[in-house]
Amino acid sequence: MKVAFIGTGSMGSLLIEAFLRSGALYPHNLYLSNRSKDKIELLALRYPGIHVSANNADAAQGSDIVFICVKPHHFPEVIAEIRSVLLESQLVISITSPVLISMLENQVPSKIAKIIPSVTHTVHSGASLCIYGERVQPEDRLLLEQLMSSISRPIPMKESETRIASDISSCGPAFISFIVQQWARAAAQMTGISMPEALILSAEMLLGTGRLLTEGGLTPEQLQRRVAVPGGVTAEGLAILEERLQGVFPSLIEATQRKHEADLERLTVLFESAAPEATGTTEQNTEF
Ligand SMILES: NC(=O)c1ccc[n+]([C@@H]2O[C@H](COP(=O)([O-])OP(=O)(O)OC[C@H]3O[C@@H](n4cnc5c(N)ncnc54)[C@H](OP(=O)(O)O)[C@@H]3O)[C@@H](O)[C@H]2O)c1
Repeated sequence: MKVAFIGTGSMGSLLIEAFLRSGALYPHNLYLSNRSKDKIELLALRYPGIHVSANNADAAQGSDIVFICVKPHHFPEVIAEIRSVLLESQLVISITSPVLISMLENQVPSKIAKIIPSVTHTVHSGASLCIYGERVQPEDRLLLEQLMSSISRPIPMKESETRIASDISSCGPAFISFIVQQWARAAAQMTGISMPEALILSAEMLLGTGRLLTEGGLTPEQLQRRVAVPGGVTAEGLAILEERLQGVFPSLIEATQRKHEADLERLTVLFESAAPEATGTTEQNTEF
């Protein structure tokens, strides 16, 4: 199998290294392309046998799967570069939520899917969101879900739910680690426990809580009931959370949805100007 990765930045490298460590892919399966060469050269040094492609089109040509791991505003230029070598039989994967499947289907003949990964795949855990375009066949889904299950738990998803799902699965590790950091800092400042000790306790607690909510089969409510006996210490703490966190999560969801809508609007304009029939330039100073 030939698998191309266009973009070997943070997420591209993470996926490549996770697939290699899991044994799902071998270096000789991989054809890499990146705007600057240093990141690929490092990967090629670390994993002999990886193919360093001369450019994006070379990587994409003949690959069974083409993962595009660039930021959303770089998609139009990447698509313009690889469009002419892509075939109906190939699978093109976007790993970013504002790039809609229809945007890519309008531009290339290939089968389009979105797979939204998570930093948690570094340790072969967390959910990967799998969203399929209409050209994707059942055997393609099987192939992609088998590949993703080597490093994560693949969850098929509707495109309309991708934003909120990736708030949880992809942004979630940052949100939760922020809470852990604030909690450990307060514990250290108020009680004298050291920050490293508080962080180790928090991390182990988080790992165990995740396992109870997955393989342990508990719901969040059941877990709270198991720990918080009436009149006990935990119940006091839960009452504070109940009172002080009112409105926090709706505001968080509103903020991420608002940012997503703005990204989507700017991306639609970029894709329109990069369409094969468009005469305009794609060079716009748009950061996402
Ligand atoms: N971070 C997460 O947890 C997470 C989770 C899910 C999805 N994502 C998505 O993953 C995508 C990539 O994010 P990232 O954090 O990996 O970004 P990143 O570290 O900036 O990597 C993007 C890579 O794309 C390369 N690139 C830019 N334009 C290119 C072009 N025309 N041709 C080839 N390569 C090009 C860049 O090359 P240079 O070396 O020249 O800069 C860079 O190495 C984003 O869309 C993000 O939404 C991220």
